[in-house]
Amino acid sequence: MKLKEDFLWGGSIAAHQCEGAWDKDGKGIGIMDLVTTGSYEVPREICKEIEEGKRYPSHEGINFYNRYKEDIALFKEMGFKALRISIDWSRIYPNGDDEEPNKKGIEYYINVVDELIKNDIEPIITLYHFEMPVNLVRKYGSWTNRKVVDFYLKYCKTMLEALKGKVKYWVTFNEMNHIDPQTEASDIFTYIIAGLKFSEMEEKKQTLATIGYNMTLAGVKAVELAHEIDPNNKVGCVFGLTPVYPINCNPVNVLNAFKDMERDFYQIDAMCNGAFPRYKLNEYEDLNIDIEISKEDEMSFFNGKLDFIGVNYYSTSVGHHEGDEDGEETLFGGVQNPYLEKSKWGWAIDPIGLRYLLNYVYRKYSLPIIVTENGLGAIDKLEEDGSIQDDYRIDYLSKHLTQLKKAVEEDQVDCFGYLMWGPIDLVSATTGEMKKRYGFIYVDKQDDGTGDYSRKKKKSFSWYKEVISSNGDILE
Ligand code: BG6
Repeated sequence: MKLKEDFLWGGSIAAHQCEGAWDKDGKGIGIMDLVTTGSYEVPREICKEIEEGKRYPSHEGINFYNRYKEDIALFKEMGFKALRISIDWSRIYPNGDDEEPNKKGIEYYINVVDELIKNDIEPIITLYHFEMPVNLVRKYGSWTNRKVVDFYLKYCKTMLEALKGKVKYWVTFNEMNHIDPQTEASDIFTYIIAGLKFSEMEEKKQTLATIGYNMTLAGVKAVELAHEIDPNNKVGCVFGLTPVYPINCNPVNVLNAFKDMERDFYQIDAMCNGAFPRYKLNEYEDLNIDIEISKEDEMSFFNGKLDFIGVNYYSTSVGHHEGDEDGEETLFGGVQNPYLEKSKWGWAIDPIGLRYLLNYVYRKYSLPIIVTENGLGAIDKLEEDGSIQDDYRIDYLSKHLTQLKKAVEEDQVDCFGYLMWGPIDLVSATTGEMKKRYGFIYVDKQDDGTGDYSRKKKKSFSWYKEVISSNGDILE
């Protein structure tokens, strides 16, 4: 099999990481508007209120809100066929539970989508990429409360109707899969997904399971809704997947790695197989976790199956094993893989892991897959002549694309697109830094708040342009 002629080459960005204009045109406070800039060493601070003198990177982002036309023109110049953006819920329903939506918020996204269409770029819309009105956390306890499922569906309906006929590809959630009752999570991980700090959760296991269940349910209900509103809609969900390898062939370690990896799949099972998985319910029973599935929920799982799967891939990890304490811990759990290099932020670089993952997911679900994120966070240096020679990024991406092509051409995986993460530099989700740059386009915005937001093409810009125009034949 060859890469399809209409393969969706492009990139992915998220509202809270690029828009800025956090309090403009009726936007409410979103959960990420309360998180400060951090670093690799110092985690981002999650504040209860916005405090004077602290830097909140989502407040300015990269000013995409005002510069989207210029940015889309640059994406067009690279030949993008698709751009995945997210809608910030707090622009549409500033408090989440408002009666009426904020017209200016809707208008903004219609304008962005129209601009994409005008440039022959397929819009792919994520409805929830860590952007929740903070009021829903304060007043209702976020996704622990079933009412939030209804608020989410009301918001989805508003946007599905507003963009009907313009948008075909929808994503219900970005990376909700990091929530699992058996995982010791960091505060920032549970916060970006649900606006709640892990360390402050009472009855942690129950809370995490309830959040995971309610979000999964909201996801399948949104699929049903999207199909009802327009049968042409193709609806997917995006999962952040990190294959877990056993450290060796000791069966105990192989089993551990299997279990570590499978934690990320129960929600995909629920969204693709027509029912919330029995094995997960058995596990909940053993942990004394109470999850009630009504008849109506059962029908939603049955009717709300995904049309495609979005895969965010950055890294692989090594499963827990005897003697773990000797190894260096990774962000994704487990220890560093001695066969792999890692990025400056400690993420193992593993192109073959992408081929492995695409095979794994495709064989499990037989659904079309799109790579919705992949990229290298690195420190870029502005040379004296103003250029940015990001050969390391080209190297990373070309090795991953080589493996993606092998997955399609040699392993027959149905992969219909590749969206590089952060085609324009934006705020890092985990650390809040600008210094951790992913883009083909450099943005003059620094962590100390300086910079004029001007854009500059990096060396990788013309490289990706050639990749796209050759439909992936030229990768070097
Ligand atoms: C993905 C998220 O998990 O990782 C993105 O969907 C995020 O929002 C990306 O930006 C890279 O992570 P980071 O922390 O380097 O920005």
